[in-house]
Amino acid sequence: MNPLLAELHDKARAVLDPVHHDFFAGGVGDEVVLAENEAAFRRLALLPRVLRGKQISGDFPVMISPTAFHRLAHPDGELATARAAGDAVLVSSMASTVPIADVVAAASGPVWFQLYVQPDMDVTEALVRRAERAGCEAVVVTVDSPVFGRHRRDLAHGFHDLPAGLAAENMRDLVGPGLRDIEMSPLVSWEHIGRVQEMTALPLWVKGVLHPKDAIIAVRHGVAGIVVSNHGGRQLDLVPAALDALPAVVDAVAGRVPVAFDGGVRSGGDIALALALGASSAGIGRPVLWGLAADGEQGVRRVLDVLRDEFLHVLTLCGGELSRDMVVTRC
Ligand code: FNR
Repeated sequence: MNPLLAELHDKARAVLDPVHHDFFAGGVGDEVVLAENEAAFRRLALLPRVLRGKQISGDFPVMISPTAFHRLAHPDGELATARAAGDAVLVSSMASTVPIADVVAAASGPVWFQLYVQPDMDVTEALVRRAERAGCEAVVVTVDSPVFGRHRRDLAHGFHDLPAGLAAENMRDLVGPGLRDIEMSPLVSWEHIGRVQEMTALPLWVKGVLHPKDAIIAVRHGVAGIVVSNHGGRQLDLVPAALDALPAVVDAVAGRVPVAFDGGVRSGGDIALALALGASSAGIGRPVLWGLAADGEQGVRRVLDVLRDEFLHVLTLCGGELSRDMVVTRC
């Protein structure tokens, strides 16, 4: 891990209520996948190309992955994250503690809306309309959550509700007065993806694909892109590290749509490895939360600055190129 990010995590741990720290940090089950997501990067190495005579462009293909409840980390919550995002794509969680319209208003770059399809399709449609009206540029449907993951740390703490004064604001007044809970349903299917596509002209991505066959089905459904992700080790503790699932999905998709990736990215070198394996961009989950908790908007900015600086340095050392043939396994 980049030491500056480790420092921000230490600071976040020191300032956060331990229950909220564990909500952010934790994973499902024995947290095997949580650890594997980071460990997978250590198993790979890059063979740099030399004498390429190239000045790198400075592009930084990173997105902020959707994470819930930013006001648990900092009073400014998602507003701080949005202000800090700069030109990185901000994928704003449906479970944000600031309404999506305010998130978009605070951002200067593109905001995409992350959606859990709600079994009541009227509610789903109302959420999509909120995202459209707010000015979101894409909808990202998270498809790895037919049920909530079982997080032992949260169960041990008895954490299942937001403290008074905080709410999943996008769910407010959707049907009738008051707040609706976010529902997960195992009945959600590809048919629902089609229905969301009929609702909106916004590009639709699916997030949480690991099986190459599902990637092919997604392409057939005309998705705009796919995010290879295991939800940061928070859903099924039996899946491979997200990085290990990436190449097969990239191969199955064969360039027809972009394949983004998240899970365990903790340094600029990690971003480089993911891109070399074919990711179109790398998503950052927990490090953004650590920056936010440690120092609000400035903390998130710091996370992105540190990652950008390190990524561009690594890219220069690789001759300005990243491709699959440059990735080898460590012995
Ligand atoms: C998440 N993630 C997530 N994903 C999603 O689609 N909707 C959501 O609301 C959330 N909420 C959420 C909360 C917290 C606390 C975490 C840590 C994660 C998953 C997230 O988008 C992403 O896939 C992972 O966080 C990526 O892994 P890293 O970077 O955290 O290792």
